[in-house]
Amino acid sequence: MPRDTLKGGVGPDLTDHLKYGETDDKKYQSIAKGTPNGMPAFEQQLGRDRIWRVLAYVDSVREYGKKP
Ligand code: HEM
Repeated sequence: MPRDTLKGGVGPDLTDHLKYGETDDKKYQSIAKGTPNGMPAFEQQLGRDRIWRVLAYVDSVREYGKKP
């Protein structure tokens, strides 16, 4: 199975510029609280620790994309 590219489908390409912010805190907020145009809040479902783990995964794919 190919690795997940996180390039969207329903949501936006998460390996590209993030309009709601690219700092750890902003990315955490996008996942925890959701965003105005369709990103659902995940804080109830996942809780703090799992949101950080999901974020670490997203960031690992973002970093992988930068490598030559
Ligand atoms: C837990 C898995 C998910 C993660 C880690 C995630 C992450 C994100 C992040 C970081 C953003 C902000 C992008 C930016 O700043 O440009 C975003 C936006 C978005 N996500 Fe998700 N997402 C997840 C699941 C979902 C699901 C299940 C849906 C659909 C039901 C969804 C739909 C969207 C949409 C439509 C946006 C754009 C919203 C806007 O522009 O306000 N996401 N997502």
